[in-house]
Amino acid sequence: MSAPLKVGLAGLGTVGTAVVQLLERGRDKLAARCGRPIEIVAISARSRGKKRDVDLKKFRWFDDPVELARDPSIEVLVEVMGGAGDPAKAAIEAALGAGKAVVTANKALLARHGQKLAVLAESRGVALNFEASVGGGIPVIKTLREGLNGDSFTRIYGILNGTCNYILSRMEQDRLAFADCLREAQRLGYAEADPSFDVEGHDTAQKLSILASLAFGTKLDPAAIYVEGISSITLADLDAAAELGYRVKLLGVAVKTEAGIEQRVHPTMVLRESAIAQVMGVTNAVTVDAQGLAPITLVGPGAGGLATASAVVSDIADIARGVRALPFGRPAARMTATRKAPMQHHEGGYYIRLLARDRPGTAATIARRLAQQKISLESIVQRHVSGAERASTSGRSGQPVPVIMITYATSEDAVRRALSAVRRDRVISGRPQVIRIEKN
Ligand SMILES: NC(=O)c1ccc[n+]([C@@H]2O[C@H](COP(=O)([O-])OP(=O)(O)OC[C@H]3O[C@@H](n4cnc5c(N)ncnc54)[C@H](OP(=O)(O)O)[C@@H]3O)[C@@H](O)[C@H]2O)c1
Repeated sequence: MSAPLKVGLAGLGTVGTAVVQLLERGRDKLAARCGRPIEIVAISARSRGKKRDVDLKKFRWFDDPVELARDPSIEVLVEVMGGAGDPAKAAIEAALGAGKAVVTANKALLARHGQKLAVLAESRGVALNFEASVGGGIPVIKTLREGLNGDSFTRIYGILNGTCNYILSRMEQDRLAFADCLREAQRLGYAEADPSFDVEGHDTAQKLSILASLAFGTKLDPAAIYVEGISSITLADLDAAAELGYRVKLLGVAVKTEAGIEQRVHPTMVLRESAIAQVMGVTNAVTVDAQGLAPITLVGPGAGGLATASAVVSDIADIARGVRALPFGRPAARMTATRKAPMQHHEGGYYIRLLARDRPGTAATIARRLAQQKISLESIVQRHVSGAERASTSGRSGQPVPVIMITYATSEDAVRRALSAVRRDRVISGRPQVIRIEKN
C-alpha cells in the first residue's frame, strides 16, 4: 500500500465535521479502493475552543486557513468554510499555487472566481474538484464533466435548492401559504434566518452558473442569469397548475438558443408526469438533454452534512487514486464569454393568472390585447365564484374574477407588452401572475 494522502481540512461546520466522520468511518474501505489511506493531518476553523461533534485532538490546528494551505505537511486542501472571498479564495489560491490539489464545496466562490482558479489549477497540473458545490450528494459535476460527451448538450435544468422545493411541496401537499411553509422550513433548519438568498433564487443561480459552464464551456457569470424567486407563488397557482396537468418548481435552466446561452432561474410549470415533477421535499434533481440521447435525470439529496461530505470524500478519493480531470472538462483558458440571450427573447408557453373585472367588454379587451401580440391561447379557465363569495366580496358586477390562461409558445416580450396594455385598460385588478412553462 502506498503512503497516505495527507489532507488539510479548512472548515469544521456541517460539512467539515461530516467529512471527518466519513473519512474515519470508511477508512479501510477507502484505502482499499484508492490503493492508499486518506489521512486528515491538519485542520482550521474560526474558533478553536468551540465544542464539536468530532475528536480533533490528533490533528494539527491552524488559526489561519491560508497558512494551513501552505503547510508542507499537506498534499490536498479541502475547503469547506464557504464565502465568495477570503479566506476561502486566498487559501485555495495558496494551495493551488503551491502545487496542491483542492477540493471545495463552495459554489459562491466558484460562481465568482471559478475560471481563474481553474486556470491556476491547470497551470500547476493539480486537481480542483467541486462535486459538492451543486446538488450535494448527487454526482452531477462528474456526469457533466466526464460521463457525457461535452459537445452534445442542448439544455440542462434542475431543482437546485432544497429549501424552495420543500416550500413548494408543502404548499401543495398541505394546502399552506408560502409564509407558513417558509416558517416551517426555518424551524426544521432547511432555511436560513435570512431566507432571501434561497427563496429569491440566488443560490440556484450560483449553482446554475457552474452547471452551465460545465455543459456549454462558457465563463462563469452569475450576472448573465435572469433570476426570479418563489415568494409570489400562491396556492391558487398550485391548484391551477394541478388542474391543468402541471406542477410548479423553482428551476434553474441553461439552454442553447440561436441568440446565445439562455440562463434563467424562475418558478416554472413542468408537466405533472415528468421525472422532475415527481421530486418533492428537500430533494434535488438535474435533467440533462443531449443530442442523440433521451433526457437523463439525476435525483438525490441536495444538502445536509453527510450527503455533501460524501461528494467531498469522493473528490478526495479521486485525488488519492491519481485521477485528475480538467476542472470544467475543457481547458479553462479557452472558456468563452457568455453571450447572454436576453430574457425578452425567451420563447415558450406561459401560464397567466389575472383578476378580471366582471363587467361587459373585459374578455374582449383581454382577447384583443393578446391577439395584438400574436399570442394564442391553448386554454382559458374562468373561475366560478360561489354564491357565498358573490354575496360577500367578489363576483358582483365590477368585482374581480380569476381568469387562468395557458398560451401556446410565444415570446416574453409579447407577454409583457400584452399584459401592460391590459393593465392600462383597467380591466384587471392587481398584477397578473406569470409563470413560464418548460417543455419536458
Ligand atoms: N451545509 C450543506 O448542506 C452544504 C451543501 C452543499 C454545499 N455546502 C457548502 O459547503 C461549505 C460549508 O458549508 P457548511 O454548511 O458546513 O458551513 P458552516 O456549518 O457554517 O461551517 C463553516 C465552517 O467554516 C469555518 N470558518 C468560517 N469562516 C472562517 C474563517 N474566516 N477562517 C477559518 N474558518 C472559518 C467555521 O468555523 P467555526 O466552526 O469555528 O465557526 C465553520 O467550521 C459552504 O461553501 C457551503 O456552501 C454546504
